[in-house]
Amino acid sequence: MQLEETDLAEIGHLNKTLLFANKTTSQVDFSKLKPAPYIPMSPDKEADPKWLEAKRAGEDAIRSGKLATFVVAGGQGTRLGYDAPKGTLPVSPVTGKTLFQIFAEKIRNAQEKYGVEIPFMVMTSIINHEQICGFFKKNGYFGLNPDKVIFFKQGFIPSVDKNGKIILSGKDEIALAPNGHGGCLRAMVRSGATAKLKKLGVEYISYFQVDNPLVNIIDPFFLGFHILEKSDMSSKMIPKAYPLERVGHFCIYEGKLCVIEYSDLPPSYQEMLDESGKLKFIAGSVAIHILNVDFVEAKGGDDSSVRLPFHVAFKKVPYLDESGNLVKPSTPNGYKYEMFVFDALESASNPLVLEGLRGDEFSAVKNKEGVDSPATCKRDQKRQFAKWLEAAGVNLEKDADGTPIFDIEISPLFATNQADFVKKWNALEKKPEIKDGLFVE
Ligand code: UTP
Repeated sequence: MQLEETDLAEIGHLNKTLLFANKTTSQVDFSKLKPAPYIPMSPDKEADPKWLEAKRAGEDAIRSGKLATFVVAGGQGTRLGYDAPKGTLPVSPVTGKTLFQIFAEKIRNAQEKYGVEIPFMVMTSIINHEQICGFFKKNGYFGLNPDKVIFFKQGFIPSVDKNGKIILSGKDEIALAPNGHGGCLRAMVRSGATAKLKKLGVEYISYFQVDNPLVNIIDPFFLGFHILEKSDMSSKMIPKAYPLERVGHFCIYEGKLCVIEYSDLPPSYQEMLDESGKLKFIAGSVAIHILNVDFVEAKGGDDSSVRLPFHVAFKKVPYLDESGNLVKPSTPNGYKYEMFVFDALESASNPLVLEGLRGDEFSAVKNKEGVDSPATCKRDQKRQFAKWLEAAGVNLEKDADGTPIFDIEISPLFATNQADFVKKWNALEKKPEIKDGLFVE
């Protein structure tokens, strides 16, 4: 059954063109790379005419039901090593809300603000589909209308060993892995999700990853720029925090916008400075996009000429040893073939890039410890909440790194951005006491 659904010719082709050729992706002549242009962050977007025009366009589209939200949650989260789908990980500093709950509540906040139902698509994989659907059901869809929460599974592909042989995870079971977040284009079309969106009158999709609770899912500025620029696919960028930060780099190659992963870009390019002494390739990708539904339908069809390319990654893949026992390796041992959603950029019309603010948009949970871990994500949430409270005139004691010394949390049901927070906070008749465990809801 598994073999019948596996395209062995495709595996053979990928082994030959990627694994044996020792390439992670298609070859790029780095000397021809240019940094991607982007719309810089405004010092005061709420007073900047260009940004306000975008906000109006974005808000009009949201109010008319033209926006849907979309989380890609099909990954295996091997680096985090959490024994359940990543979206079910508790991350908020005081109440321990899960990633899925935070996203759902951000959507509920926008639904109330704009007086409209906003569909929420959740991409799962064969490995975590039942668990994710069950988790939403058990939690009453976190207050969302179940009819507007659309689950679908992405495609899968067998993992291989260093000789290109398919790895077995059971006596009659192949080690299947989801085919990368780029698999979402085909999955949205095949599952009928885009057809459903079209019926609902949705034209734009707000795409984000499951590991980033800071993401501004419904951002009228971003959507407005996307609409005004008549873009097929837009992206948020965040200036890199340091030269070798492990993010994708927005670049122009042969006249087209693309993202080059840190693992593919030589360190000399990652560290390169421009004439003004700033990092030349500064625009880091944080996997936040807006996609047109029509563009997804065009790119996600079955026609192989529009398919995204595959990349190969070295990861931990559970396997059967010679005595038939299942081994869960502690270090990478197998190769996974994956498509990346940002490879769609090169065929998108007017693919704009907009600068976002790190502390307001991005803090990912990737690793168990160290950078991009639950601990750094909790710290970054606290810093964001502190910034909002301070903007409302509240004094908070902070440590030398600028993190509040005690735990605080602002519910997405109260506010999802600073401007809204300040307005609502100032309107509170009785303000909560500022102390450890402060939870504003
Ligand atoms: P990552 O690149 O962090 O991969 O995914 P991962 O599988 O979650 O984690 P590791 O690398 O094994 O530790 C970034 C985002 O893309 C989604 C993930 O769920 C996450 O939101 N993703 C990744 C998919 O939806 N499908 C995939 O096949 C891969």
